[in-house]
Amino acid sequence: MNTLDAIKSRRSVRKFSDRAVEPEKLQAVLEAAQQAPSWANMQCWRFVVVTDPAVRARISDLSYVETYFATRGYSSNPAQKALAEAPVVIVACADPTESGSLRGQQYYLADMGIATQNLMLAAHEVGLGSVFVGVFNEEELGELLEIPPDIRIVGLFPLGYPRGELKGGPPRKSLEQIVHYEKWKS
Ligand SMILES: Cc1cc2nc3c(=O)[nH]c(=O)nc-3n(C[C@H](O)[C@H](O)[C@H](O)COP(=O)(O)O)c2cc1C
Repeated sequence: MNTLDAIKSRRSVRKFSDRAVEPEKLQAVLEAAQQAPSWANMQCWRFVVVTDPAVRARISDLSYVETYFATRGYSSNPAQKALAEAPVVIVACADPTESGSLRGQQYYLADMGIATQNLMLAAHEVGLGSVFVGVFNEEELGELLEIPPDIRIVGLFPLGYPRGELKGGPPRKSLEQIVHYEKWKS
C-alpha cells in the first residue's frame, strides 16, 4: 500500500475480532510512532501497551466521561466497547517538558498527533485497525496505570484485527472550505 492509499483508506475501527496481534506487527506499529518528527527531535512521547483483559475492561469504563457525553446525548463513548474488545490498547502519553511551548501553543500535542497518525497508518498497512480515543478520565486512568502526574495522557488506541468490512468514513469538508491560496479570503 502506498502512503496516499493508506491515508485515504484508513478508517476509525471500533469493532475487533479476538484474533491476537502478532508481536512483530505490534513492533512495526510502535516503530512507526517512534519515527515521527517532533519539536527539536525531543520525542516527548511515551507509550503504555496494555494487553491484560481486566485492565482493558477498566480502561473501557474510563472512556465514558459523563460530563462530556451526557450533554451530547450519548450513553457511551462510541469506542468504549472497542477498548475492551481489542487485544491490545496503546495508551499514548507525553512529557510536555520534552517539547516546545511558544506563543501560548503547546507543541507536545502536535508531536503526539503526528506520532499517533503514524501509529494508525502503520496499523492499517499491516491489516490491523485502530481509533484515536481522546475522551477518557485522565486522572483515574493515570492512577490505574501508575503514570506519573506530570505526564499527560493524550489518547487511547485499541489495536487489533477489524471485525467486519471497513465502511466509508464520515465526509470531509471540501478543499474550498479549508484552503486559502495566497491570502486568507472569506
Ligand atoms: C483527537 C481525537 C479524539 C477522538 N476521540 C474519539 C473518542 O473519544 N471516541 C471515538 O469513538 N472516536 C474518537 N475519535 C475518532 C473520530 O471520531 C474520527 O477520527 C472521525 O470521526 C473521522 O473518522 P475516520 O477516522 O474514520 O476518518 C477521535 C479522533 C481524534 C483525532
